[in-house]
Amino acid sequence: MTKRRMRLGLSVANFGYHYAAWRLPESRNEADHDIGHHLRNAEIAERGLMDFLFFADLAVVRDVEHPTIRRDMEQSHLKLEPSLVCSALAACTSRIGLVPTMSTTFNQPYNLARRLASIDHISNGRMGWNLVTSTDKEEAANFGLSAPLTSEQRHARAREFAEVVRGLWDSWDDDAFMRDKVSGRYFDRAKVHFLNHEGTHFNVRGPLDTARPPQGQLPIITAGASANAQELAAEVADMVYSAFAHFDMAQNYYASVKGRLAKYGRCPDSLRIMAGIMPIVGHTREEAQAKFDRLQDLLDPRVANGMLLINQFPDMSAYGPDDKVPDMQVMDIHLTAARDPGVTARLMERARREGMTMRQLYAAVSAGFWHLGVIGTPTEVADTMQTWFEQGAADGFVVQPPYLPGSAEDFVDMVIPELQRRGLFRTEYEGRTLRQNLGLPVVPSRYAA
Ligand SMILES: Cc1cc2nc3c(=O)[nH]c(=O)nc-3n(C[C@H](O)[C@H](O)[C@H](O)COP(=O)(O)O)c2cc1C
Repeated sequence: MTKRRMRLGLSVANFGYHYAAWRLPESRNEADHDIGHHLRNAEIAERGLMDFLFFADLAVVRDVEHPTIRRDMEQSHLKLEPSLVCSALAACTSRIGLVPTMSTTFNQPYNLARRLASIDHISNGRMGWNLVTSTDKEEAANFGLSAPLTSEQRHARAREFAEVVRGLWDSWDDDAFMRDKVSGRYFDRAKVHFLNHEGTHFNVRGPLDTARPPQGQLPIITAGASANAQELAAEVADMVYSAFAHFDMAQNYYASVKGRLAKYGRCPDSLRIMAGIMPIVGHTREEAQAKFDRLQDLLDPRVANGMLLINQFPDMSAYGPDDKVPDMQVMDIHLTAARDPGVTARLMERARREGMTMRQLYAAVSAGFWHLGVIGTPTEVADTMQTWFEQGAADGFVVQPPYLPGSAEDFVDMVIPELQRRGLFRTEYEGRTLRQNLGLPVVPSRYAA
């Protein structure tokens, strides 16, 4: 039996996940609109034999009244549209998988199916789809909605959306095209299928105007901790992106999602749970800490306060970095259910107990927070990953580099060799397609029988 191996994705927010990454002297000023920057990251991930690049997305810009904060926000900042970036990268890379985020609320299934099928052809089978249902109020305002859809509405639409997309990808049998110049027959009429979908949200005739993607069905990744999101994952996803800072919560989530698969006739191994991790790596712990401190020194207190606010902390902008964290209640705002709702309150409680300064609080939130954060040597980072991987908390990880490309290089050059030495990660790509590398079985067309 082959040994179970970790899967690794690299999430490439423009400058990286740390709020001050863009201010590092070596950060490329135009990283947010520079395809060369994305290509550099892709080459690093490919050199490290990683499974895929992941592009988070929110089609919204916030905080234009606060120009200092504006460029520091993780997703709600300026960017190139992810699927187009993937299309460009597809032409310049050969092995790395490419996973853009695309919303089921703000798209039509036909458009999305043809776009992803097209890039799957361009990349020879390396595309995936991060299926999101979109919960953001300000983003909704860009698409004619005064409020985000309810969880039930979002997930019902997403379920039908995925069903239509998958149906459209099967429009043409793999061998539908004979392109026979002598007989003049281009395709076999018996091998093209009209979907004729009539549902609650969509009526789609088909067929798709793109041949079946090289992967047949593209791997789908979802996220979300609510029961609705877990159910959607169990029904349609090949991977789930999880967000937990603590092992026991990650383990509970892992068991909960995997436990839902049997209902859909699926085995536990058919769904990969990928935990978000922000590693800050140095040859020594001191070197790793120095890399983190360097970022923290560039964190403008106004940005730090903005960061606290969007993470459910009370407004503490009246307090300076050297003041003690005040005794205030966390805000009762709805954060996505994907996140551990107690995490902010627990940190506030710890801050008061330990007499933390605001500066120390900024550091605690910058270093992962919702996700697994590890500052340390390659051995220490690999130890943590191994524990999560072997003890039922993750099948792999989505690496969130604090700054790019530097910390992606650190991960590839220092942590991946350590994982390989332990036999936890591949030493060469197993296949040509993302599906093959993820170890997912080929999905025959629904019409194949
Ligand atoms: C790790 C992680 C990454 C996510 N990335 C995105 C994203 O890039 N764009 C987006 O619109 N939503 C993103 N989401 C939101 C989820 O897709 C989902 O809509 C959200 O978690 C709401 O889940 P819920 O229905 O369980 O509340 C992300 C969630 C998590 C946990």
